[in-house]
Amino acid sequence: MNVRHYLGGAVLLLSSGIAGCVGEESSGLPADDGNAQAATTAATGGGEGDGGGDAIGPPQTLASALDDFGSCMSIEVFVETGVYKLFKNLAIVGNQEQACGSCHASGEGGAVISEDVEAAFIGSSTFPGVMRFVTGTVDEQGNFKDLVPSNRFIDKGADECYPGELCHPPYDLPTDMQRAILTFTEESLARWEAGECDAPYSPDQPQE
Ligand code: HEC
Repeated sequence: MNVRHYLGGAVLLLSSGIAGCVGEESSGLPADDGNAQAATTAATGGGEGDGGGDAIGPPQTLASALDDFGSCMSIEVFVETGVYKLFKNLAIVGNQEQACGSCHASGEGGAVISEDVEAAFIGSSTFPGVMRFVTGTVDEQGNFKDLVPSNRFIDKGADECYPGELCHPPYDLPTDMQRAILTFTEESLARWEAGECDAPYSPDQPQE
C-alpha cells in the first residue's frame, strides 16, 4: 500500500509535477523508469486531470523526490548564483590551505566539487551529490514528506571532530559563497515545487 493521503489532491498534482519536470519534451531530460513508475503509482491515487497543477506535489519517496529535484536543477542557475566557484574555496589541511576541488573532483565523500562546471553540475544534481544541497523530512508516520536545504557545504567545515576519528579539514566559507549556496538551493527547490524546471533565471526580478 503505497498511496499517501497528504492533502486532498496532492497525489494527483504529483503526477503533473513530474510531467512538468521530466516528461515534457521541452525539458530535454531523460525520463527514467523511476519517475515513470512514481507517476503511475501516483495516478492510481486519484482521478485524472483537474486543472490545477501549480501547487506543491510531494513525491512519494525520498529517492524519487531527489531524482525529480535533481532533474529540475538548472546549470544556468548553478553558474549565475556562483555555486560553481565552490572548487576554489580553501580548507585547512595541517597548516596549509588546500582547495576543495583538489580532493573532491571525483566526488570524495559524495561531494562533487570540480573546476569542470559540467561535471560539478552533474554530480550535484544526481544522487548522492544532490544530498549536499537538500535532505528529506518525514511526517508523523515516518513517511517522506518534503525536501529541505541540507546546507552540507556550509556546515561540513565546522563539523565536530572527536579524538581517534579521521577529521575533515576545517573551513569557513566566505559569506558570498554561503549566500550562493543558499540561493541556489532555494531557487532549485522553488522550481521543483512549482514544476518550473525550465524557467529563465531572474534573480532580482528585474523590472522590464
Ligand atoms: C584534503 C582533502 C579534502 C579537502 C581539501 C576538502 N575535503 Fe571535503 N572531504 C574529504 C574527504 C576525505 C571526505 C569524506 C570523509 C568525510 O566526510 O569527512 C570529504 C567529505 C566532504 C563532504 C561530504 C560529507 C558530508 O558530511 O556531507 C562535504 C560536503 C565536503 N567534504 C565539503 C568540502 C568543502 C566545501 C571543501 C573546501 C572548502 C572541502 N570539502 C575540502 C576531503 C577533503
